[in-house]
Amino acid sequence: MLLLCIQGSPRKDGNTATVVSVFAEEAKSMGIEVEVINICDKNISPCVECGTCEEKGFCPINDDMQEIYTLFTKADFVLIGTPMFFYSTPAQLKAMIDRAQALWSRKYVFNLSDPGRLWRKGFMIALGATKGKNLFEGANLIAKYFFDAIGAEYLGFLGYRKIEKKGDINKHPKAIDEIREKAEKFLAPYTKRQKVLFVCTDNACRSQMAYAFARVYLGNKLDVKSAGSNPASKIDPMVTEVMAEKGIDMFYLRPQSVEKALANWIPDLIVTLGCDDNRCLNISSAPVERWDLEDPTGKSLSFMRQIRDEIEIKVKERFKSY
Ligand SMILES: Cc1cc2nc3c(=O)[nH]c(=O)nc-3n(C[C@H](O)[C@H](O)[C@H](O)COP(=O)(O)O)c2cc1C
Repeated sequence: MLLLCIQGSPRKDGNTATVVSVFAEEAKSMGIEVEVINICDKNISPCVECGTCEEKGFCPINDDMQEIYTLFTKADFVLIGTPMFFYSTPAQLKAMIDRAQALWSRKYVFNLSDPGRLWRKGFMIALGATKGKNLFEGANLIAKYFFDAIGAEYLGFLGYRKIEKKGDINKHPKAIDEIREKAEKFLAPYTKRQKVLFVCTDNACRSQMAYAFARVYLGNKLDVKSAGSNPASKIDPMVTEVMAEKGIDMFYLRPQSVEKALANWIPDLIVTLGCDDNRCLNISSAPVERWDLEDPTGKSLSFMRQIRDEIEIKVKERFKSY
C-alpha cells in the first residue's frame, strides 16, 4: 500500500510540513509505505493548455510531473497539505493540480480508469492565518475536482485557522491529535488486506495485467504489487492497448524490480507468471504459486488478448473467497 503525501508549502519546516509529517509518521507506524513530495523541490511547469492531453491522452511537458503521474496511479491514498495563499493553494501546488488535467483527459475524454481508481481515497489538511468562515472554501472546491481527476474519492478536509508563524500549528490545542486520529481511521482498512506480489521476468506484460485485474476487482481485499527479476524500461505497448479495450488504463504504470517491491513490504503470497528465474522464486518466505501462461511478448495482438482474458479469469477465480 502506498500513501502519497503532497506537501504544498514553500516554507521549509513550516506548519504544512508539520501536519503532513504527523499524518505520514502515523501511517509509517502502521507499517504503511509513505512517499512525501515537497512540491517546491520539484520542477513542475504550469499547464500551457496545449491541448495534447485531450487529443492524445498524455502531457508532453517533460518534467517531474511525469513521475508524479505514476505515483498517483500507484497510490492507494493521497494526502494534500496546503497553506492558504489568497484563499487558494500556493502557485507551485496549483501548477501540479492543473497538470492533473492529463489524468482528467484520460478519464473523461478517453473513458479509461487506472487500476486503483475504484479504491483510492484522498484527503486534505489546510491551514491559514486568518479566521474567516470562508477561509477554506476555495481550497475545498479545488481539492474536490483535483481528487476526481486523479481518481480518488475525496474524504474532505481538516482546516486550521489562526495559524500564521512557523510552529503555530504545534500550539493548536487539538490539531496534532486530530490528524493522527484521521490517519489511523482512514488507513486502517487498507492494512487488513492480504498482500499479493505478481512477478515475471520483465514486469512489462503478464504480471502487470494480473496486478491490474487484482486491483480492479479485489482492491479492497488485496494489497497488490507487481515486479520483475529483470524489469523492462516500460510496459509492453500491446498490454496498454488490450487493457484499454477493457477500460483499464496502464499508461502511467512502470515496471519495477523485485527488490524495490519488497523494500518495505512483505507479501503473504507470491504468484509467478511463467518466470523460472530463482530471483523470482526465492525472494521471500511467502508461499509461491506458479501460473504457467505462455509469454505473449512479440506475438500477435489477438494472442495478447487471449492471455489477458486468461489472466482475468484466473485472478477472479483464485481470489474469489478472499
Ligand atoms: C502569499 C501569501 C498569501 C497568504 N494568503 C493567506 C490567506 O488568503 N488567508 C490566510 O488566512 N492566510 C494567508 N497567508 C498566511 C499563511 O497561510 C500562513 O502563514 C500559514 O501558516 C503558512 O503555512 P506554512 O508555514 O506551511 O507555509 C498567506 C501567506 C502568504 C505568504
